[in-house]
Amino acid sequence: MTSLSSDDPFPSCTRALILWKPFGLSRRLLQVECSESILLFTLVPRLRKAPTVFLLGQRQGFSTMPEIEASLRDSELFSPPPVVRGMTELDRTAFKKTVSIPVLKARKEVVNRLMRALRRVALQRPGIKRVIEDPKDEDSRLIMLDPYRMLSADSFDKAELSVLKELDVSPQLSQYNLELTYENFKSEEVLRAVLPEGQDVTSGFSRVGHIAHLNLRDHQLPFKHLIGQVMVDKNPGITSAVNKTSNIDNTYRNFQMEVLCGEENMLTKVRENNYTYEFDFSKVYWNPRLSTEHGRITELLNPGDVLFDVFAGVGPFAIPAARKNCTVFANDLNPESHKWLLHNCKLNKVDQKVKVFNMDGKDFLQGPVREELMLRLGLSAEAKPSVHIVMNLPAKAIEFLGVFRSLLDGQPCSPELLPTVHCYCFSKESDPAKDVRRRAEAELGVSLEASSSVHLVRNVAPNKEMLCVTFQIPAATLYGLREFLTAKCGVCYP
Ligand SMILES: C[S@@+](CC[C@H](N)C(=O)[O-])C[C@H]1O[C@@H](n2cnc3c(N)ncnc32)[C@H](O)[C@@H]1O
Repeated sequence: MTSLSSDDPFPSCTRALILWKPFGLSRRLLQVECSESILLFTLVPRLRKAPTVFLLGQRQGFSTMPEIEASLRDSELFSPPPVVRGMTELDRTAFKKTVSIPVLKARKEVVNRLMRALRRVALQRPGIKRVIEDPKDEDSRLIMLDPYRMLSADSFDKAELSVLKELDVSPQLSQYNLELTYENFKSEEVLRAVLPEGQDVTSGFSRVGHIAHLNLRDHQLPFKHLIGQVMVDKNPGITSAVNKTSNIDNTYRNFQMEVLCGEENMLTKVRENNYTYEFDFSKVYWNPRLSTEHGRITELLNPGDVLFDVFAGVGPFAIPAARKNCTVFANDLNPESHKWLLHNCKLNKVDQKVKVFNMDGKDFLQGPVREELMLRLGLSAEAKPSVHIVMNLPAKAIEFLGVFRSLLDGQPCSPELLPTVHCYCFSKESDPAKDVRRRAEAELGVSLEASSSVHLVRNVAPNKEMLCVTFQIPAATLYGLREFLTAKCGVCYP
């Protein structure tokens, strides 16, 4: 599979001087011993902005090598062969390629120490052993080096040279013909070689348990099955790749998806902030990009607090809160989310601490939430816990805020029982914080200027932010103006 082309690629019979202008920035003079100029070029990094290379051979005088310059520009050492371009069905055998790699010969007993010192310059390729046997000397090993960093023995830095000296290893490099296969290319290298040149090959995905969740662009669609297969091949633990086929604008916020590769089974298990969640990804909402936000809200809670989670999904706010010894009321309209929420409460051993509902958010607020607040109104001031209401349905949650207007109308106003709301929203405005606050104020009919904060959760798309506006429901809103003034002024208003 691999072969050693020469013990010493730089025999001293001919000396060539290379004037190298790396990246067009500065000129450097490298002196390399070599008999065949072509050998040198296999070791020069084949970067997009290829260096301008001039050869100054002792016999030929000065000459430029335009054909070599072109090949340096056009092909990178570690890109798969051109034959794979346009492939729509993955043929792994077409990815074979042989490249020249600089190697350093060393006695086998010093190899471990040497490898520690040569971390900077050692070859790093998936599935490639960096230390191999020397076919010509059983007491030696060959250390594969990064051809982009190692042009010659001069490329070792001072510290590396001093270790070589200490271990009595010659810095002289040899060349090794290394055969690369599909397994040795990274997913991005595979896709860049396959997809039409010049087009974006972004191979990013969200990982949801065993599922790679892709969001392919139109130009990638002809290659969708190959892309899915590459994601499965190159990412340990991923056995299924799916592509989002529509925006999540349905009520339950789950994706329409097409399985590109691997198992159709979307029942999966994820870990987030040390909790385990199981669900059917094709039927419920789950976004791994929200883990920080779930953790942030959990941090704000104290043991004994009450949490109402109006749009709870499969439980990523509710379960950590219950584990923190909060009393939790969690609701979701989607029967599948409700089912998995119950399941996950059991799985994380908090089913005794979470009451689970399957209702519309508005009914949940006007029913169980209101009843619970009324119950707690009767408690003494010290026994009244802090109450939090989480509303993570960013496209719509703001529209539910009107429910708080006079939710406890007619009840004796209690300043100790004013829930803190964490309401999520999207904004495309130039001042997103101002925008979401203004929209929340319009729903509540009260100014939040002095009593709210807005947290930027994440950038969802260019010019689209997800935010969380947090505020304590003003007493005048929750209890109605008459009750509020009665409590405040001690006068009973009709
Ligand atoms: C964006 S997800 C958030 C889920 C979870 N809180 C999380 O952070 O992953 C919104 C959830 O609201 C639920 N939902 C949508 N409309 C609803 C409604 N009118 N009432 C209650 N839940 C609703 C969806 O089923 C979905 O699970």
